[in-house]
Amino acid sequence: MRQHVNPLSSNFNQIERIPSLSEMFCDSKSNLHLDIGCAAGEFLFDLALVNTSWNYLGIEIREKLVKKARKKLVEREIKNLYFIFGNAHNILNDVQSKFILKNLKSLSFNFPDPWFKKRHYKRRVIQPEFINNLSNSLQKGTLISVKTDVKDLFDYMDYTISNNFYFKKIDKKDINYSESFNPNNFQTNREKYVIINQLDIFERIYIKI
Ligand SMILES: C[S@@+](CC[C@H](N)C(=O)[O-])C[C@H]1O[C@@H](n2cnc3c(N)ncnc32)[C@H](O)[C@@H]1O
Repeated sequence: MRQHVNPLSSNFNQIERIPSLSEMFCDSKSNLHLDIGCAAGEFLFDLALVNTSWNYLGIEIREKLVKKARKKLVEREIKNLYFIFGNAHNILNDVQSKFILKNLKSLSFNFPDPWFKKRHYKRRVIQPEFINNLSNSLQKGTLISVKTDVKDLFDYMDYTISNNFYFKKIDKKDINYSESFNPNNFQTNREKYVIINQLDIFERIYIKI
């Protein structure tokens, strides 16, 4: 399977219909977490099965992975997990998704594609305009978690988010157990690989003020 797709391709301009929270989840009032670039969603399956009082939403741009995740979702009859296919920018910038951002308790960017070449930086998922959209739409107190094993990408993401007046860095230990979307410290697939290979992990949490 091809590992990367170009998120700026016009193939992703058209987005699928976004269902309401009550169509996505059995209990639409539960805390909502969004994972951007969730691949086939293994991490979200781990979370959803254990933290049944949370709802989990994944956005992924590789259609095959979303199909695989959705099949597994139906087979396991999990009612607090949902997957949306497409470019997270196009989905979350669309008016029909405003309610998603308004209802989020937290969101995560786990090991985003680094796009090492400078001319490809614009393909990175964290962009100033996207962070601006998040700062305009998220409620006060919403948490953003970023993790990567690429120092240069971490610096870029940290610079981009910190440059937005409405996001402030917050210490992990200052987050209550009940506010954490991952109190069990589950690891993503990339994270498991990084740990096995003894690579560094750079991470930070921001709060919307
Ligand atoms: C390096 S993988 C990490 C997967 C997973 N988060 C993990 O930690 O194992 C990055 C994922 O983000 C997806 N992705 C990249 N750009 C995206 C975008 N603009 N919108 C949605 N998904 C995106 C990729 O297709 C890929 O599955």
